[in-house]
Amino acid sequence: MNIQFPERFTWGAATAAYQVEGAAFEDGKGKSIWDVFSHVPGNIEDDATGDVACDQYHRYPEDIKLMQELNLQVYRFSVSWPRIYPEGTGVVNSKGLDHYDRLVDALLDAGIDPWITLYHWDLPQALHERGGWPNRDIADWFTDYALTMAERLGDRVKHWMTMNEAWVCSYFGYRDGNMAPGIKDHKQALAASYHFNLAHGRAYNAMKAMNPNLKVGITHATQQHRPLDGKPESLALAEFLWQENNGVFMEPIFSGSYPEAIIDRYPESIPVITDADLIEMNNYDFVGLQYYCDNLIRDGKLVAEKLPEFEYTEMGWPVTPDGFYNNIMEYVRRYKPKELAITENGMALDDEVDAEGRVRDVRRQKYIKAHLESVHRAIQDGAPLTGYFAWSFMDNYEWACGYRPRFGLIHTDYATQTRTIKDSGRMFAEIIRNTGW
Ligand code: NOJ
Repeated sequence: MNIQFPERFTWGAATAAYQVEGAAFEDGKGKSIWDVFSHVPGNIEDDATGDVACDQYHRYPEDIKLMQELNLQVYRFSVSWPRIYPEGTGVVNSKGLDHYDRLVDALLDAGIDPWITLYHWDLPQALHERGGWPNRDIADWFTDYALTMAERLGDRVKHWMTMNEAWVCSYFGYRDGNMAPGIKDHKQALAASYHFNLAHGRAYNAMKAMNPNLKVGITHATQQHRPLDGKPESLALAEFLWQENNGVFMEPIFSGSYPEAIIDRYPESIPVITDADLIEMNNYDFVGLQYYCDNLIRDGKLVAEKLPEFEYTEMGWPVTPDGFYNNIMEYVRRYKPKELAITENGMALDDEVDAEGRVRDVRRQKYIKAHLESVHRAIQDGAPLTGYFAWSFMDNYEWACGYRPRFGLIHTDYATQTRTIKDSGRMFAEIIRNTGW
């Protein structure tokens, strides 16, 4: 096999603040909706919280050394909004800003480019109490926060992502209630999704007006639905779910329109859509796709059980690398994007360090290579892909699943905070070194 990526292709790994930082109540940080949600017994597996997580807030110098060992060119991390604005708006917490300032400088000193996600799910609790994402005012609250960060770090950080996976926050946070803030109300979920798009667009315009050198994008939990039979009801469901899970979040950004299928299906729930809003939303410099697996459909329904013909991960997700290729090409066909990056892709396993101090995660190595082959094929076929980020740099807090699923290239021993580079991490370092294999 000879897989060579373009010379200028960007290689990185990603994390998010609540999943790795810990220090949840230190240095003036306010509470986020995840601090509150994870402390309600029964919400999270084993009642695990992100209070300590990987303690990266304190251990980032050690972690940056490990990033160098992995040959990472970029570290994608998120800023915790309540560290900056403990009350959501108003007074800035200078200790919070100082932390990210130090982190950015330390990364640059190590030759690693920082890419920042502004919103990776940890909404200040104070803003939740003022209505949160279903409240249209959040577009302004978020823009103020985005500008504060761009003003402080925009001289050193070029790549910014406004929202991470607004699909997950809207539907799991406000419709299904299994993620923070734990609300079950479809109307609020659709309002939240609309305001994610609006806040993205407003922040995009404000950040670019402040500093035109910034590249401002958004990352999306891309969904690919695979009908396992050719039945019309299976094909129709796949198309509807494309629109519900991709179209609602991507069409406004790429094309300045809202999917008709969603407006028709939920006429009472969808907020009033104005042309002025659509113009604001219709902005991006790059879009980050985050792909883990296809969603399988049979007999017009999503398949809930495990099928013998697929391999499954510790999340219970099927391994479908060919679906990744189809997904990227579907984006190219439908939206004609100017730039895409894969800002997350990876596999959860139940990794352990063996007696020789190694983590032999053969399945993850295969997963990464198979998915990179799909990325490579898509590039050959014209997809404007400029980078690939593994999820995750290290094992971390996997939201409602607590610490059970391990996604990292690096193993985290949560009791001792010992880090061990897994075999997949060593393989990834070689792939980066050789821009392929
Ligand atoms: C996407 C999310 O952005 C990230 O926070 C999460 O850990 C991974 N998916 C794996 O579920």
